[in-house]
Amino acid sequence: MENRKVRIALTKGRIEDKAVELLEKIGYDVSELRNKGRRLILNIPNEGIEVVLAKAADVITYVEHGVCDLGIVGKDTIMEHGGKFYEIADLGFGKCEFALAVKKGADFYEGYGVKTVATKYPEVTRMFFEERGIDVDIVKIEGSVELAPLVGLADGIVDIVETGTTLRENGLEVFDHVAPISARLIVNTVSVKLKQERILEIVGLIKESLK
Ligand code: PRP
Repeated sequence: MENRKVRIALTKGRIEDKAVELLEKIGYDVSELRNKGRRLILNIPNEGIEVVLAKAADVITYVEHGVCDLGIVGKDTIMEHGGKFYEIADLGFGKCEFALAVKKGADFYEGYGVKTVATKYPEVTRMFFEERGIDVDIVKIEGSVELAPLVGLADGIVDIVETGTTLRENGLEVFDHVAPISARLIVNTVSVKLKQERILEIVGLIKESLK
């Protein structure tokens, strides 16, 4: 019976509402999730499903370690973090992109000097420039990365762009597109085998609802 219990890790914040809507759409009672207060573990009654709310990178960690069977997390975190799990569906919400942005009118690729790029996503940035054979210095920033080119720390930033408002309001613009982002469904590699029936049922319902 224990084997039939399934735990889903769900990313708090930006994509949380859409993820809860998705669970509701497939017929689950999400009342605990809608009235969670400060609780971090919520039940989906009558389904033997527990939902855990966590920060994006931690969703991956919980799924990798097998304490959560499934996870809903942005492709941005998957690209930066990597890890051992199966990415089984593009959920189609939380759409945005990774972009290289610069001060309005600047040409990032002009000149021969090594450029500096500020980002919260050094791994994504490294891969992007490595694929193009461009040598850059990468500076890790914890937040409000848009500041870096404005105060002269960097020639450009690699960051998430959704509406483009943050860039626009800070005199920056997209210079190049790095990668599209959306929410993904991930699954633990062992859960797929040990709880195959239950997992396939849930994944089937989710995939059906995406059509
Ligand atoms: C992201 C990103 C930008 C902003 C872009 O930050 O870092 O600052 O969203 O959105 P826009 O194109 O719609 O203006 P987020 O809100 O995820 O918070 P963060 O600063 O903690 O990364």
